Amino acid sequence: MSVVPDTAEIAAYWNTAATTFDAEPDHGLTRPAVRAAWSARLRSWIPGVGADVLDIGCGTGSLSLLVAEHGHRVTGIDLAPGMVEQARRKLAGHAASVFVADAGAPPIGNGTVDVVLTRHLLWTLPNPLEALRRWVRLLRPGGHLVLVEGCWDMPDNGDGPDTPWSRGVPATVLTNAVLPLVTRVHTELLTDPALWGRMIHDERYALLAHI
Ligand SMILES: C[S@@+](CC[C@H](N)C(=O)[O-])C[C@H]1O[C@@H](n2cnc3c(N)ncnc32)[C@H](O)[C@@H]1O
Repeated sequence: MSVVPDTAEIAAYWNTAATTFDAEPDHGLTRPAVRAAWSARLRSWIPGVGADVLDIGCGTGSLSLLVAEHGHRVTGIDLAPGMVEQARRKLAGHAASVFVADAGAPPIGNGTVDVVLTRHLLWTLPNPLEALRRWVRLLRPGGHLVLVEGCWDMPDNGDGPDTPWSRGVPATVLTNAVLPLVTRVHTELLTDPALWGRMIHDERYALLAHI
């Protein structure tokens, strides 16, 4: 039977995953076509240069690295020290810092970042709605959230975390959750196989929310 996991259990799960995480094409972004596809999307979601971008649940730092390469200042946070270690290695030499912190309570001042970026994080949070409210408060006026999420077509073997969105979150549900917190929401479907290194048949999207 699945139970609501505590923070230590979630960190332990992701620490174990850290060494092999980048083997998936969309995680490690080692294939040039996949990397180019994410780079192009990130440029469109975070245009220009010089933004302060907070990548929450940054994992091994693959998206953080692209954002840093685009000329933004990146802070990555993740609950799992193993993930943070990999991200630090990947981001060495860039205008970036990475540290261990909980997505539900990032130790970052309110109104201090231009963009909050997350990918595939909400499903693993015990209280995603509270986290969304916290993330919106971190934004400067004119800032925005970039939430890359989906509803994944995976077998339910019953041993996953019992979180509210453990099977993923449909774009309509996430839009309704975010709308009361912001002024404008836009979603973009991420069906291009180049992003994933294969054809996908489930719902994947980016939600952009402007305050
Ligand atoms: C599916 S991975 C995604 C990693 C990265 N965003 C990416 O797209 O490559 C989820 C990440 O969220 C992190 N995570 C899970 N719960 C977290 C929490 N409460 N606070 C911060 N990070 C968390 C995990 O350690 C893991 O690195």
